[in-house]
Amino acid sequence: MNVKKIVAESAVKYIQDGMVVGLGSGTTAHWFIKKLGQMVEDGLEIKAVATSVESEVLAKELEIPIVNFEEIDQIDVTVDGADEVDPGLNLIKGGGGALLREKIVANACQQLIIIVDETKKVKHLGTFPLPVEVVPFALSLTKKKVEELGCKSEIRMSDENHRYRTDNGNFILDCEFGNISHPQELHQQLNMIPGVVDNGLFINLAPRVLVGYKNGNIETLK
Ligand code: A5P
Repeated sequence: MNVKKIVAESAVKYIQDGMVVGLGSGTTAHWFIKKLGQMVEDGLEIKAVATSVESEVLAKELEIPIVNFEEIDQIDVTVDGADEVDPGLNLIKGGGGALLREKIVANACQQLIIIVDETKKVKHLGTFPLPVEVVPFALSLTKKKVEELGCKSEIRMSDENHRYRTDNGNFILDCEFGNISHPQELHQQLNMIPGVVDNGLFINLAPRVLVGYKNGNIETLK
């Protein structure tokens, strides 16, 4: 059973004619975009904003009308995946590298729906290494400052010889903090470091979280 597909497809019930929809990124959001494409083919009329080049390419293949921020007043619903969800519905995102655009879209939308399989539910954030997007300039200095907050970090690679670049041309530091007991504080401390663009902590966004289980059940949190 493909749990990611099942939970992703269940999110389309939140989409109605006339909406502007934020399209998330990653393997779970992929299934949501595919299903939305079928609905558009069947006559659903929406516009969409994509959080990554990859999601935009897929949406365009499926003939989902893509708009940019300059063309819209608001985003009605965004559907996106996550790497971890804690009991307060705080998230770690950015495993796929699209955290900055995802965060901009998540903050701009009326309703945020997060689609995850059960493995993403955690008691405390931090087992999944926290992605931190940093500008290439003075990378080693920024890395040192990030590590002073209490983590070990790795520069993400796309292959053996090449550093991974985000859609914004930046690098990602994957940071092992262990249990993150004060996510709000860490979020602020990270984003205060010159050179850090943003980090994968999505705090206080009050998303609705749909959790898919191996037996096919879907739990709705909030
Ligand atoms: C993309 O940058 C991420 O934030 C994804 O939403 C997150 O990594 C979840 O990805 P999967 O749905 O592929 O597990």
